[in-house]
Amino acid sequence: MDATSPLLLFDSGVGGLTVLGELRKLLPDAPVIYAADIAGLPYGTKTEAEVAARVCGLLGRMAERWHPRLICIACNTASTIALAMVRDVLEVPIVGTVPAIKPAAAMTRTGVIGVLGTEATVRQSYIDRLEADFAAGKTLIRHGANGLVALAETKLRGEAVATEDVLAELGGLLNHPAAGQLDTLVLACTHFPLLAPELSAVLGPQVTFVDGSEGIARRIAALTLGQSFSRATPDRAVTTGPMEDWQQVSGALGSYGLHALETF
Ligand code: DGL
Repeated sequence: MDATSPLLLFDSGVGGLTVLGELRKLLPDAPVIYAADIAGLPYGTKTEAEVAARVCGLLGRMAERWHPRLICIACNTASTIALAMVRDVLEVPIVGTVPAIKPAAAMTRTGVIGVLGTEATVRQSYIDRLEADFAAGKTLIRHGANGLVALAETKLRGEAVATEDVLAELGGLLNHPAAGQLDTLVLACTHFPLLAPELSAVLGPQVTFVDGSEGIARRIAALTLGQSFSRATPDRAVTTGPMEDWQQVSGALGSYGLHALETF
C-alpha cells in the first residue's frame, strides 16, 4: 500500500465534513480527498435512480483518477440507496453511513425516537430493516427535512440561520402525536450535526442527538489498521460544481484541514 494513497470521503455537499471531523481525531496523518457533488446537490429530493446513477458514476471515475485506499460515502441518502451497488462495481473497500437507529434505541428512555433525514433517506427500506432489527417495540417518528440541507450549506458559508427556518422544517416531527415523549433524535443526514445548536434551540434540552460519524470514523480506522500514512500534498476539497461556489465555503473547508480547492 502506497503511504500517500488517500482516503476518499464523498457527499453531495459539506455534510460529510462532520464525518471528516471525527476521522481527523483518529487518523490525523491520513491523506484525505473530500469530494462534494455540488452539481448534484441536493440528493434528498432526487429519485433513487438519479442518486444511484450519480453516485456510482462519480465514484467509479474518482476511484480511477485517485486510487483511494478506501472510500467513505459520507452521506446517508447516497448510502441507503446506492451502497450495495457501489460495492458491487468497485474493488476498493467502501464504508457507508448507516442511520444511528441502533444506538438511539439503546439510549431512549421514553421509547420515542425521531429519525431526521432527507425525504429520500426516510423512505428507504434500509430504515425499515434497521427499525425491525433494533427498534422493535419503540415508536420511530421518521421525518424528511430536505430544507435543512440548504440551511447547513448556508451556515458553512458564514451566513446566519434563522430559528424560524429550522422550526419550519420540523413540522412533521413536532406534529406527530408522540412528539411530546421524543427524547432521542437520530440525525440521519450528515449535514444535520452542523445545525445541532439550532436544532437544540428548537427542540429543547430533553432531546438528545445521535449520529453515525464517530462509528464511521472507528470503522475506517479499523479497516486501515496497520497501514502507513504520509501526506505528500495538502488535503484536497474537490467539487463537481463551480469553483466560485466552493470558494464561499473555503473557511469551513480549511477548518477541517482541506486547504487545496479543486473542481472535478
Ligand atoms: N448529506 C446528505 C445525507 O447525509 C444529503 C444531503 C442532500 O440532500 O444532498 O443524506
